[in-house]
Amino acid sequence: MMIPSTVIDDLIARRPEAVQLLSQLLAIPTVSADPGCAELLQKAASTLSELFHSAGAGWVTEVVPTAGHPIVWARYRRPGNTRRAIVYGHYDVQPADPLNLWTTPAFEPTIRDGRIYARGATDDKGQMLTHVLSALAWMRAEGSLPIDLDFIIEGEEEVGSENLERFLEQHREELKGDVAVISDTSQYAPGWPAITTGLRGIFACEIKVHGPRKDLHSGVFGGAIPNPIRELARLLSLLHNEQNEVQIPGFYEGVIPLTPEDRTGFTELPFDEASFLNETGAAGLRGEAGYTAIEQRWARPTCEFNGIFGGYTGPGPKTIVPACASAKITCRLVADQDPQRLMKSLEAFLQANLHPACRLEFTGDHGCPAFLMDRTSPYLAAASRAVEAGFGKAPVFIREGGSIPVVATFKRLLGLDTLLLGWGQNTDNLHSPDEHFSLEDFHRGTLASAALWAELARL
Ligand code: BES
Ligand code: MN
Ligand code: MN
Repeated sequence: MMIPSTVIDDLIARRPEAVQLLSQLLAIPTVSADPGCAELLQKAASTLSELFHSAGAGWVTEVVPTAGHPIVWARYRRPGNTRRAIVYGHYDVQPADPLNLWTTPAFEPTIRDGRIYARGATDDKGQMLTHVLSALAWMRAEGSLPIDLDFIIEGEEEVGSENLERFLEQHREELKGDVAVISDTSQYAPGWPAITTGLRGIFACEIKVHGPRKDLHSGVFGGAIPNPIRELARLLSLLHNEQNEVQIPGFYEGVIPLTPEDRTGFTELPFDEASFLNETGAAGLRGEAGYTAIEQRWARPTCEFNGIFGGYTGPGPKTIVPACASAKITCRLVADQDPQRLMKSLEAFLQANLHPACRLEFTGDHGCPAFLMDRTSPYLAAASRAVEAGFGKAPVFIREGGSIPVVATFKRLLGLDTLLLGWGQNTDNLHSPDEHFSLEDFHRGTLASAALWAELARL
């Protein structure tokens, strides 16, 4: 066991305090997408920075303002340490809507059945806090840490991390390290801790089809004037074929194919299609032909429609030809697809196929490439030992379908691989009503983190 017993004792004795601290953070509604929450994000950032201020000798902490929400940057240096890790987390959360589907209010953290319920419980306040708590425990119990650390905790992950990229560019000389560490993913299943070696990338955009200048009487004008909802629906229908393959030109160019080893690795994981479907409530699967459900979610790119709106959506009928119709689209990407190139290709494809009687407005939003890590990295072996120390079971290696923009930025700007050590579960309702985090996973994650500092220092 690599964790000094003094650190373990400290962590166990302070579990009630740790849960209270998590509750305190969860009670702050840090919705980064909501401009009305700006002061609350500021408050969460200062709450976090105060934690580091109490850490003792060797720590320098600042709250760095950005064009958006602030970044908490806490640095630990000790002469003699030979390793340095960059630890990333995010204190912002997704909107809590729909509010009426929460059993208890989203920002009134409540413990039921050994789980803490609140928006951000698992994504990412609970998971992020495990690393802060383990570092503080080392400081209290041992007076120092065996590894230098840079905590970077941002408030804009859920809106694409664009200001963080600027921060990393500005400080790239000071941020030299050996490896990055993030807990913002999931275990494979309860009792199956996992290390994630691949994440999908993403790009997000919105399209708006314009017809007449304003809504018109559909009896007087309809039949002669183009209907933008019809045109939008037709355009969207062009984006997939019957095999559920994406039809954006060049979409699959540069996609790194799955190797036979990747594919057997995936089939060795237990997967029950019926319970997977049951979890979602969908009546059946619908994915790209020739790939398993795991492959479709972890290693194949997609084009998803996230929202569609336009015309009259109030009660009862209304006979109009609407002026416009919109859709929000995100594409999940795999290595080595280029988000900017594909966003342009999508725009050009839609413009080229648009009926000449309509006008199309295309607005690009955030984007980031996918991440794929070399499975033979010694950092993965060290992390694996740490996870086993915390969870009592060796982790499986998986990929995941979600995106964390900074992971590709760490690789590109700082040359760092990221250890994605997920303490959460896919069933924690992240981004959904009744989000929660198991307190057992919270405490085990904290122990694993405490072990990680020792394991990395030893490499
Ligand atoms: N923590 C998630 C990403 C995640 C969740 C990865 C579960 C793997 C498993 C992160 O906070 C998130 O939600 N990211 C967004 C992307 C962002 C650019 C809006 C996502 O994946 O939709
Ligand atoms: Mn997250
Ligand atoms: Mn998220």
